[in-house]
Amino acid sequence: MAHNGNKMSIVDNSYIKNALTNEQVSKLIEIYIGANSYISDSMKKLTSKNHNMEEVYEVLRGSDIIDVDRIAVCHFYCHDSPYYPHTDFHSIEKENLVLPLKVMDGPNPFLIIFDQYYNGDGRTWTFNKNLEFDFNKTAKCRPCDFGNDIHGLLEQDISEDLYNYLNHFPKKYWYGLSGTAYEFKPGNAIQFDSKKIHSTSRMYCKEKLGLTIRYSF
Ligand SMILES: [Fe+2]
Repeated sequence: MAHNGNKMSIVDNSYIKNALTNEQVSKLIEIYIGANSYISDSMKKLTSKNHNMEEVYEVLRGSDIIDVDRIAVCHFYCHDSPYYPHTDFHSIEKENLVLPLKVMDGPNPFLIIFDQYYNGDGRTWTFNKNLEFDFNKTAKCRPCDFGNDIHGLLEQDISEDLYNYLNHFPKKYWYGLSGTAYEFKPGNAIQFDSKKIHSTSRMYCKEKLGLTIRYSF
């Protein structure tokens, strides 16, 4: 487990191959599909608010890399367009663990985890769009316009390599950011600090389904 006991430090990213077996992935998809009629919001989220997660935890207990006792938040999410850059940190939520479950009709997308982080509560940078979300405050600007509250901003364009994953927006939107692209591959897991800015790559698939876990301290 990447958790090191120091509340202020930023947890290193880790990409864990074969975190779940095919059977565990199938079982989780089955739970999501079985509960589908309860899902009303646009992100098609299934959370502990609209579903008893105990059957999910039971599957997760079968994986060596998941610390079920430390889960603060756990939800399924399914979407067909990329998420804007955002952070997920809220008081007790310290680390994200993303478990890709299914990619529909196309190649696997990527999760881009930037090196830059924000110590405040979860935030979404919506560029030039007026958007509001339930849990995250939005900022109608680029991360680089947000000022010194974002740690590690660079005074340079995003690299050509990373922009290849993010070219659904103009290059200048990503100014000042650097980071790593992790394949959203069912069965693998992506663990990272909730304070780190992250976003979905351009999606060439129709839809993707994942399970997000947030660990407490
Ligand atoms: Fe997130």
